[in-house]
Amino acid sequence: DEALIKKGAKVFKKCRACHQVGEKAKNKVGPILNDIIGQQAAVVSGFKYSKALKQLNGDGLVWSDENLDAFLTKPKKFVKGTKMSFAGLKKEKDRVALIEFLKSHSQ
Ligand code: HEM
Repeated sequence: DEALIKKGAKVFKKCRACHQVGEKAKNKVGPILNDIIGQQAAVVSGFKYSKALKQLNGDGLVWSDENLDAFLTKPKKFVKGTKMSFAGLKKEKDRVALIEFLKSHSQ
């Protein structure tokens, strides 16, 4: 729904210090987040992940609404040892909107 995606775009401002999405997106402090929903963890080419994220990949984790919601609530709790320095999004509504926004940038 458009309104939710719009809200999610606003929430994504908190991520923009490190992440880009869209046609011209490039890896920055964090990897490009195009197509992240349904994508295996730690597969963005040219990005150097932490051991912790590579471990998730080894475990076969695929990013879904559910595990992305858990990760974004408290990144360092969901992935011990991640180098993503972000406290998390406390409000469920913010996470739901953000995930909808990321879906709009997924196939
Ligand atoms: C990794 C989302 C905020 C830096 C990731 C991943 C996702 C994500 C989904 C895993 C990517 C993959 O598996 O390929 C988000 C969202 C944010 C956010 C939605 C905002 C709510 C930030 C911020 C920073 C950051 C503010 C920098 C201060 C990183 C880094 C990684 C990462 C460095 C790689 C982690 C590692 O290798 O351990 N992020 N992120 N992120 N993010 Fe974020």
